[in-house]
Amino acid sequence: MKVAPSILSADFADLKNAIAMCQSAQADYLHIDVMDNHFVPNLTIGPVVVKSIRTISDLFFDVHLMVTNPMELVKPFVDAGADNITFHVEASKDPFSVIKEIRSFNKQVGISIKPKTDINILKPLLRYVDLVLIMSVEPGFGGQKYIPESTNRIKSLGKTLKKLRLRKQVIIEVDGGINLSNAEIVKNAGADIIVAGSAVFGADDPHKAITKFRAL
Ligand code: DX5
Ligand code: ZN
Repeated sequence: MKVAPSILSADFADLKNAIAMCQSAQADYLHIDVMDNHFVPNLTIGPVVVKSIRTISDLFFDVHLMVTNPMELVKPFVDAGADNITFHVEASKDPFSVIKEIRSFNKQVGISIKPKTDINILKPLLRYVDLVLIMSVEPGFGGQKYIPESTNRIKSLGKTLKKLRLRKQVIIEVDGGINLSNAEIVKNAGADIIVAGSAVFGADDPHKAITKFRAL
C-alpha cells in the first residue's frame, strides 16, 4: 500500500524532523493540507511554508487545496514546489480551467470530493485528471473517524474508471480517518494510496507506522 503522511498532524515546531522521518521511512507522497477558513472552518499551510520545506526535502509534495478559489492558488503552490495539486470539485464552477492551469505547469492534477457529494459528478472530469482524492471524513480537521460509506464510494469510482478504461491511468487516493486497522478495507475497495495523519504522527513510533502501512 502506498502512503502519504499528512503533515497536518505533525508537530509544526519540529516540521524538519517530521519530514526527515517521512523521507527515511520511504513515504510515497508528503500530503500537505491547505485550508482557507472559508471552504473549510480551519486555516493551515500557505505557499511560504511549502517553499521553505521544499529546501529540505525531495519527497513528492501532494498539495490538497481545501480552498474556495483554487485557481488563484495554483501558481503560488507550483512556484513553492508542489508536485501535485488537488482541488475540490465543490470549489470550482469551472473545474476544467483549473485542470488546464495545473497542467500548464506540468504538474500532476488531482480532483477531490467531499463525503456527501454525488460521486457521479466526477465522471466528465476523470479523463483529464491523474488522481482522484476521495474524502472519507468531512474536510477540515485531522483525527476524525473514517466514514464507513466511503468504502462503497471507492468501489464505485473504481468501477467507473474501469468502464471508461481509465483505471490504470488514474490514481485513487483516500483521505481521512485511516489507520492500521481499516487500511486493508480501504485498499481492498480499490485505493492506490492512502493519506494518514494522526495514525502516523500520533503513533508511538511514526517511522514504524509508515513501514507498517507500506507493508499492507
Ligand atoms: C482533513 C485532511 C486530511 C487529514 C487526515 O481535512 O484533508 O488530510 O489531515 O488526517 P487523519 O489521518 O488524522 O484523518
Ligand atoms: Zn488532505
